[in-house]
Amino acid sequence: MVKPRDERVRARFASELDRNFSVVASAGSGKTTAITQRVLSIARSPNAVKILPRLVVVTFTNRAADEMQQRTRQALLQEHLQQEVQTAFNRAFFGTIHSFCMKLLTDFGHYLGLPAPLELVEGDDDLWQEFAQNQTRIGRSLGGKDRAMLLRFVQARDLMELARRARSAVLQVPGLSPCPPLDFAEIYQQIDQAGRDNIAKSQAELREWERRFAGDWEYLRWPVCFTAANAKFTQLWQEQFAPLRQWICEAATCVAAEVQRDYLDFRLDHGLVTYGDQIALAQELLQHSGKSYCNIRSPRREFAKKAFVSYSTRHRTLSRCNFRCCWK
Ligand SMILES: Nc1ncnc2c1ncn2[C@@H]1O[C@H](COP(=O)(O)OP(=O)(O)OP(=O)(O)O)[C@@H](O)[C@H]1O
Ligand SMILES: [Mg+2]
Repeated sequence: MVKPRDERVRARFASELDRNFSVVASAGSGKTTAITQRVLSIARSPNAVKILPRLVVVTFTNRAADEMQQRTRQALLQEHLQQEVQTAFNRAFFGTIHSFCMKLLTDFGHYLGLPAPLELVEGDDDLWQEFAQNQTRIGRSLGGKDRAMLLRFVQARDLMELARRARSAVLQVPGLSPCPPLDFAEIYQQIDQAGRDNIAKSQAELREWERRFAGDWEYLRWPVCFTAANAKFTQLWQEQFAPLRQWICEAATCVAAEVQRDYLDFRLDHGLVTYGDQIALAQELLQHSGKSYCNIRSPRREFAKKAFVSYSTRHRTLSRCNFRCCWK
């Protein structure tokens, strides 16, 4: 076998078990071999029986995880290590990040009050439809006044769509400041150049919009500014409406978060999780600071943090000798 030029750093990766490494290496450069060597070093170490059951090897695909596990098992068998080391190795985890999260949820999800068993739902269109049909009153997380105000500008179905598209990105309901007072005096002070630049027309539009706003119009479409996109008046118009637009964005985000929470509860009631849920709930589990968490904190959390081995196949176009290690 031809020795690679970076043999020294590969050896460090394989043998220095008390260090964390980040390795970036191209396809076929020896990542699986290096990780196998590192696991072998663990297996040869005096506390192998303790460490191996806590070992977590995460890959991008199940196929890569299977290959990694098989190659490591084969290498271990060739070492003729004690049976108890083999048994400990059989308890190590090899899989994708999603399957690892699912394992955490299966083993410890009850700390979050999750039902068991949980099942993965990949295409959730039908489930969403069923949920949306039962969602008769959205926006309860806002006060009655704010909710009514938001629904004058944004339709409930658009808020539902926003929640659907945002997925689990905004699960926490953000705090909402009061709706800003409207003051368009500066817009009305602008002078039209003999009707040429559409300022008067825009002002008339705004006047009508304000009349509706002050009245009991349930749904308000945005007033149209008729001046050119690069006109100073247009800029002023946008500036004057910015606080209201910002408030609407924030209020809509609150509702989206509320709907997402409801949808998550709905999925969990049905014992279903999406790929995104697996990650988000596992994260929640690890961050959970309640008393009961003490039970999972050690040694499981440590095992998730310390024994985590991952590898990357980025920079596929780079040539052979770029097996680089960096360590902290
Ligand atoms: N240190 C090394 N010295 C010499 N050859 C090596 C070394 N490490 C790996 N190889 C050889 O390089 C080839 C690829 O190794 P390996 O499968 O570990 O690479 P990989 O980076 O995991 O590949 P992939 O990107 O396809 O997953 C194998 O034939 C292996 O025997
Ligand atoms: Mg590989």
